[in-house]
Amino acid sequence: MEQEYVLSMQNITKIYKDGFVANKNIDFSVRKGDIHGLVGENGAGKSTLMKVLFGQELPETGKIFFKGEEVNISSPLAALKLGIGMVHQHFMLVPSLTVAENMVFGMEPTKGGLFDFKEAVRLTEEVAQKYGLPIDPNMKIRDLYVGQKQRVEILKMLLRNVEVLILDEPTAVLTPQETQELFVQLVKLKEQGYTIIFISHKLGEIKQICDRLTVLRDGCSIQTVDVDSVTEQDISRMMVGRNAVNSLVKTPPKIGQVKLRVKRLNYFNGFGKHVLQNVSFQVRGGEILGIAGIEGNGQREISEMITGIDSIQSGEILVNGTCVKGKSVREIREMGVAHISEDRMTYGAAAEASIEQNLISDRFYKKQYQRGQILNKKVIQRTSRELIKSFTIKCDGGSAPVKTLSGGNIQKVVAAREFSQSPQVMVANQPTRGIDVGASELIREKLIALRDEGAAVLLISADMGELREVSDSLIVLCNGKIVAYFETVEGLSENELGEYMLGLKEQTPEEIGRCFQ
Ligand SMILES: Nc1ncnc2c1ncn2[C@@H]1O[C@H](COP(=O)(O)OP(=O)(O)OP(=O)(O)O)[C@@H](O)[C@H]1O
Ligand SMILES: [Mg+2]
Repeated sequence: MEQEYVLSMQNITKIYKDGFVANKNIDFSVRKGDIHGLVGENGAGKSTLMKVLFGQELPETGKIFFKGEEVNISSPLAALKLGIGMVHQHFMLVPSLTVAENMVFGMEPTKGGLFDFKEAVRLTEEVAQKYGLPIDPNMKIRDLYVGQKQRVEILKMLLRNVEVLILDEPTAVLTPQETQELFVQLVKLKEQGYTIIFISHKLGEIKQICDRLTVLRDGCSIQTVDVDSVTEQDISRMMVGRNAVNSLVKTPPKIGQVKLRVKRLNYFNGFGKHVLQNVSFQVRGGEILGIAGIEGNGQREISEMITGIDSIQSGEILVNGTCVKGKSVREIREMGVAHISEDRMTYGAAAEASIEQNLISDRFYKKQYQRGQILNKKVIQRTSRELIKSFTIKCDGGSAPVKTLSGGNIQKVVAAREFSQSPQVMVANQPTRGIDVGASELIREKLIALRDEGAAVLLISADMGELREVSDSLIVLCNGKIVAYFETVEGLSENELGEYMLGLKEQTPEEIGRCFQ
């Protein structure tokens, strides 16, 4: 018998304004009640296809059928009306407002012509209870954990009565524990008859949660298969069109002198919260020190203080023995510090500037990039061509604005620039977030190569697999405090690590102090 498709996209072609064909004659059908995975390398066209389905981008050709009827989805509002909702990778909530206010955004209940907050709270509680996804309606969004924010985004869609939920890389910002919580929620929704389209670069997640999956490559749909009929290796082969994924080669570290020393760092944020409490650690040349921890436990503050984005309130940071306090970002970079920021669109890349400009934005003022009073175009173009090639950045040359690249390719632009300065100290905060399997391996290899050249690498990651694979030693942050230090990651289980991350376990000060021996 023919399976019931709740949704069917046929012959979708999407050409962006600059002539780039992001979707080529794609057919994509989803069965009712399935969790359907959508996978493919960075730039394969996943987000584009989903934006077409959500009415955010209009295709040049193609038809969409929803519950058996052809529909015209000309805007997100039209999609929501039909019952199709999308949660974007970057949350669209207003941080200064409460959960309830965000929940009813654009459909605010009123009483006597005024916003009815009580009713907003009631609606939130009702939908939260109905789906078993508890949330406090009175909390401000800015005080929520990432996982809770995501729950609000999902509840927001459920309040609008969607039946099909598109999740674009929902787990990219989650810890493994939060990911598992999300999966419990998704399975509940599936059992209630919802259909979910799930985008992820983590093939293990696809295997765990999805019923079927579709592989996109270079804007084309390659295949749709039952998840049970393929291995992770099969999936990645379909994605790249060849055998991929080598395991990482890593020799024992050759530890040198201390290059980065952080001493008794304390930090209070704008709300008076004690975000960092007496944090001290060091990273030596030839060593990769990993920082594990649930997001929002002080990781960002540490990396922003080392790199000069934020100023030091109390404590000290030394790079090769020199204090960075009071120095500008450029001065700190001149000391040999590179930074891959977790927030690529705020600190990593200038959206409107070209790929080329972004690749050299840290060095254009240097002599070799100048010719008299002007920039030396030839050298700049050559440099950017080489970087585009060695980091496999998917683009048509370097002159397009960086914002026209897919999320993962923007991340590669940032990484290419930061690695290519032969830094002494590398602060890599979520360096492979949103990057496909192949490109993640490339970045991990580059981190290890940098360490083998004698640099000190600080790796902050929400991906425990990555931390265990890449780090030589590891500290765990919980509530702004270092709660554990592991001299080696060998034999360290994800479970044990998780217990420290959640604050269920803590080492003694003596054990943590071994970091300085
Ligand atoms: N507004 C735009 N203008 C021009 N080209 C664009 C635009 N948005 C995306 N593209 C291009 O379309 C291609 C597909 O992008 P898309 O965002 O759909 O990829 P993706 O599969 O979601 O990748 P990722 O895994 O990195 O998020 C990319 O090569 C990108 O450069
Ligand atoms: Mg995308």
